[in-house]
Amino acid sequence: MAKNKIDFVILESCDGQLELHRGRGGYSWKGQKGKKLEWILPIIVQDNADETLKIIYNLPEWNSVGKGRECSYDSKELRSAIWQKIFPLISINDLPQVNESGGLTDMERMNKTRTKGRYNDDDDMVSIGSDECYTFYKDVETIVKHFGAAYWKNKVVYMNCDDARQSAFWIYFYNNFKNLKLKQIISTRFDGSKNEYDGFIVKHDGKKILRIPPIGSKSTFHGSYSDKECMSIANNEADIIITNPPFSKFEHFYKCMQSTGKDIICFGNGVAVRYKWTEELWKNKKIDVIPFEFNWFLTPTFKKKRAKTYVYTNIRQNHTTDKIKPLKKIPKQYYDEKGMLVVDVFVPNDYYKPFGVSVNPIKNGILNSGYKLLQCKYRPVVNNKYNFDRLIIIKVLNAKGKPNIEFDNLKFEEAKIKKTGQGQVIGQEKLEL
Ligand SMILES: C[S@@+](CC[C@H](N)C(=O)[O-])C[C@H]1O[C@@H](n2cnc3c(N)ncnc32)[C@H](O)[C@@H]1O
Repeated sequence: MAKNKIDFVILESCDGQLELHRGRGGYSWKGQKGKKLEWILPIIVQDNADETLKIIYNLPEWNSVGKGRECSYDSKELRSAIWQKIFPLISINDLPQVNESGGLTDMERMNKTRTKGRYNDDDDMVSIGSDECYTFYKDVETIVKHFGAAYWKNKVVYMNCDDARQSAFWIYFYNNFKNLKLKQIISTRFDGSKNEYDGFIVKHDGKKILRIPPIGSKSTFHGSYSDKECMSIANNEADIIITNPPFSKFEHFYKCMQSTGKDIICFGNGVAVRYKWTEELWKNKKIDVIPFEFNWFLTPTFKKKRAKTYVYTNIRQNHTTDKIKPLKKIPKQYYDEKGMLVVDVFVPNDYYKPFGVSVNPIKNGILNSGYKLLQCKYRPVVNNKYNFDRLIIIKVLNAKGKPNIEFDNLKFEEAKIKKTGQGQVIGQEKLEL
């Protein structure tokens, strides 16, 4: 029986044409011999392959070529139309993974990046700027569910780094508009250009979709989140601003959105927890992370790319962690050359001085579990080498059960590296998957 089962519909793009295939009993499609695969998109369908095929065939953008209806001309419009219909069915696990190194040495890779530019997502993949990585539909769902149905009711949700033709945020909120009892969704698309204007706004109130400017009319703006049109929506129309902004502009983005006083829910690099500028925000409870880690994003050619990210918000989070135990039972621990204790995974419950932790305990809710932040950035030095960066936290109450304020205004200096081995980092932040 399993033999005849259809598990996948596979979209394959080569030589400007898009072809549809059915994968039986598991995904193993490697493309047709002799054709250069531009991209491939496995869609999980289980038993309803015909339904999925019908959806694609019936798209007005499906412009079939040749005899059958299984191929069409590949175009941006068609991809976007397919995207909107089948995004929830895309399987992260089965997508091909970006080949980050392309089998090159670090030096070769660096030189290639310089000569070939930032974007090079093919067999000799060099690097992909994290600004063009798209969020998976199921990750949007995780975030939405985390905040709960009551939170979304009657709200205007603004996605300000999102092209409504392809953003999982837009597609998710559009598909679930009624379930979530939303009032309105708005997205603005950034054109990435300095010269031509091609930004646009899309609004949906559950009944009709409004595009500004209408298709065919000239745009007068770029659609950057900090442009006056976008800030005006953020300030005057939105209740919630939710997106995956470009990581490279995270600080600017978060500060701009903070100025609106609206709820902010946005992706950011996992290590952004220990950016210096966030320290005051943490201390004043103006930034928080939800208790999830998101590690995969989609490239424009439908490959999955790894990046450790968290979802940052100014909405107070209350989750707590149980990864706390007596110091002597914590296996991964050391003292650096300044005598600073550094722990990993578990945090001590019987240590009352400052100590270093990675970003994971913060995401897990250690700051809601009887600990407070003292410093966002601290580089422990061991054997005259820098270890990976840490945050410094401390128990809120001291051994006598009184407020532990002795270290509150201290600045924790790192040990100085002696001349030999200067600046060498001896580790990488470990991805916890
Ligand atoms: C990490 S991607 C995420 C895209 C989309 N929000 C999603 O979640 O799939 C960041 C997006 O922000 C766009 N972008 C870059 N600079 C921007 C700006 N100043 N204003 C708005 N969007 C911007 C990029 O073009 C890119 O599409």
